[in-house]
Amino acid sequence: MKILVVGSGGREHAISWMLAKSEQVDEIVCVSGNGGTKNEKKCRNINPIDCEYAEGLTGNDAIVQIASFEQVDFAVVGPEDPLCAGLADQLWSVGIPTVGPKSLSATLEGSKDIAKAFMKKYGVNSATSETFTNQTLAEEYVKKHGAPIVIKADGLAAGKGVVVAPTTEIALKAVKDFMQDEKLGSAGTKLVIEDYLQGVEISVLAAVSVTKELTQKGKSCILPFVPARDHKRLNDGAKGPNTGGMGAIAPLDDVSDKTMELFNKNILEPTLKGLEAEGFDYRGFIFFGVMLCKDGPKLLEYNVRLGDPETQAVLPLMDFDFAELCKAIIDENQTGTLKDFEPKLKWKKGFVCAPVAVSGGYPNDYAKGKEITFKNEKENTKVFIAGGQEKNGKLVTSGGRVLAVSAFGNSFEEAFKTAYSAMKDVSFEGMFYRKDIGLAGAAESGEL
Ligand code: AMP
Ligand code: GLY
Repeated sequence: MKILVVGSGGREHAISWMLAKSEQVDEIVCVSGNGGTKNEKKCRNINPIDCEYAEGLTGNDAIVQIASFEQVDFAVVGPEDPLCAGLADQLWSVGIPTVGPKSLSATLEGSKDIAKAFMKKYGVNSATSETFTNQTLAEEYVKKHGAPIVIKADGLAAGKGVVVAPTTEIALKAVKDFMQDEKLGSAGTKLVIEDYLQGVEISVLAAVSVTKELTQKGKSCILPFVPARDHKRLNDGAKGPNTGGMGAIAPLDDVSDKTMELFNKNILEPTLKGLEAEGFDYRGFIFFGVMLCKDGPKLLEYNVRLGDPETQAVLPLMDFDFAELCKAIIDENQTGTLKDFEPKLKWKKGFVCAPVAVSGGYPNDYAKGKEITFKNEKENTKVFIAGGQEKNGKLVTSGGRVLAVSAFGNSFEEAFKTAYSAMKDVSFEGMFYRKDIGLAGAAESGEL
């Protein structure tokens, strides 16, 4: 099998590495990939910018051209932007099966307003909210409601669209920044204003196969993976500015079976019902961002893809063929292959700790082009490159989040020790990483 992987981050390196483990997979074409996928077994990077047969094409058109020319068996799309812009629709229309939802269902991530309307319509447990397109009405609502309160830009904002406001002043400033000053462009001209939820956050990634035909046959389904946790703040103890993710762990031993039962009953099942009732064609992954509150789990957001860096912690725990899972999601003959996959969804007994190393200065300005070195990977560790490219035969930094060191251990303590011992072997100028990924007090707790 030949597979196309779309994206160029740490998540896509982990996806490609996991696909390469499958005996059924001969080659993985990474568009555009990075310095990690460049040297990964079975992987070949193609950058549309210097691809002869995609000359003159950009964005999704270039990706579709590459997928067709390369005659891939199917595609796996990592990030949300191309999905929201209709990449899955385009690929399916030229006969390329795709893991990633079509654009209509991708709006569950592309618009917070649509996502909240969906949650309300189908009874998915989440915070009370209202949507505003008028600044004065938004400001009146904030003043009447009081703080704490959460201001969310409706559109895609690369992680910059949510302000958890501890005071009314901060909330009003966020409303002005988004609506009047258009700091996020058109993404912030519509706002969702939401009640503040206190609790501990978890991420549940899941495989989805929902189509009208499968629903008619009673075979649409969502299969959740082991729960994971991201660490979004820059510094130890969940302090400092928000980032794209400073490290992840999986599974979580502080999440009980009872909590997961409540998650299934009050979040996952109503979501499945909603996807079915809307008649969506959703074959891909979904990410539930969940707050574990005193009165049960509540949904913060949907992402229509795997989480980054959660993927780097969850995929190494898979004790099944990831390529086979992708094929089951696609379900070309529409017989219910994902539902049938459930007994095969086995997980290694153990833990993964995956701290992320970032460029000094991130999430603000940082230098690029610094040489990255690390020793040969030891057993049970894997370095997933995110912001790193090969230049003149050397691996150099090209982004804020540079890499994750993903380590497996029989206990969390073992995984933690192995990850941080391997992190000592990684080096680039200005390198910074948190020292507490997965420890008590490291998680975002929803405390202000
Ligand atoms: P979102 O993109 O909606 O997941 O929001 C980004 C982050 O903001 C989440 O991961 C939470 O840490 C925080 N957040 C979002 N909504 C709320 C809420 N209602 N209460 C408390 N924190 C929130
Ligand atoms: N780790 C959160 C995300 O992928 O959006």
